[in-house]
Amino acid sequence: MCMSIFCCTFAAQNARMENEKQHIGSLFDRIAETYDGLNHGLSLNIDRLWRRRAVTAMKPAKRVLDVAIGTADLTIEMLRRGKAEHVTGIDLSKEMMRIGEEKVKKQYQTPQPAVDFVLANAQAMPFEDNSFDAVTCAFGCRNFSDLDAGLGEMYRVLKDGGQVTILEFSYPENKIIRWAYDLYFTRILPFIGRVVSHDKTAYTYLNRSVKSFCWGGMFVQHLLNAGFRSTFFKPLTFGIATIYTAVK
Ligand SMILES: C[S@@+](CC[C@H](N)C(=O)[O-])C[C@H]1O[C@@H](n2cnc3c(N)ncnc32)[C@H](O)[C@@H]1O
Repeated sequence: MCMSIFCCTFAAQNARMENEKQHIGSLFDRIAETYDGLNHGLSLNIDRLWRRRAVTAMKPAKRVLDVAIGTADLTIEMLRRGKAEHVTGIDLSKEMMRIGEEKVKKQYQTPQPAVDFVLANAQAMPFEDNSFDAVTCAFGCRNFSDLDAGLGEMYRVLKDGGQVTILEFSYPENKIIRWAYDLYFTRILPFIGRVVSHDKTAYTYLNRSVKSFCWGGMFVQHLLNAGFRSTFFKPLTFGIATIYTAVK
C-alpha cells in the first residue's frame, strides 16, 4: 500500500516536473530576445539596482551556483564586483542562456570560461551534495511549481556554512503603493509586454506569478523548512522586491 502511494506520488511529481520543464522553458525561450530591454525599460532600470543590492548582500565565494541564471545579469554583476571566481548557471530556457552566454563572452574573455551554463531544472539539479560555496537566485523562485523542492535542492548542493542569496518580487504593504502596483502590473506591464515581445500570455503569466507568490516572513519560513539558518530579509523600493539571505 505504502509502496504504491509512494510510486504514484513520485510518478506524478516526475510528470509535473517534465511538464513544467517544457512550459517554463518555452515561455522564456519566446520572450528571451526582448527580456533584457523590457526588464530595464519597464522598471526604469531599478532592476539593475536590485541586483546590485543582492550582490552587495553576498559574501565573496569561489564557486557560485546561480539558479535560474536567465540572461546572466546577476552573474555578470557578481563577477564584475569580484564576489565570485566561477559561476555555474542553470536554467530551463536555452534561449535565455544563449543570450546570457553572449553577454558573458563579450565582457569576460578569459581562457577558462568564467561561467558554465547548464540546462537543468532547479527542482532536480544534476549536482553532487555540497558542491558550491554560495548559491544565488534572482527572480527565479516564483516560477518553481514546488518552491520547497527548489529551496531543498539549493540547500543540498550548498556546502556547510555557505550562503544563499535570493532576490524576488514581493507585494508592497502600503495601500497606495499597492494600488499603483496593481495598476502597473495588471494593466500597463502586460500591455507593453504584449506589444514589445509579441507574446500574448508571457507578461500576464509574470504578473499572476508575482501576485500568487509568498514574500517576507512567509518566504523565510520556507527557507527555515528547507534547513537554512541565520535568515534575513530586506524589502527594496517600498517592498516591490525583497532580498533574502540564509546560511546552511
Ligand atoms: C524572470 S527570469 C530571471 C532570470 C535572471 N535570474 C534575472 O535576474 O534576470 C526567470 C528564469 O527562471 C528560469 N526558470 C524558471 N523555472 C525554472 C526551473 N524550475 N529551473 C530552472 N530555471 C527555471 C526561467 O527559464 C527564466 O530564465
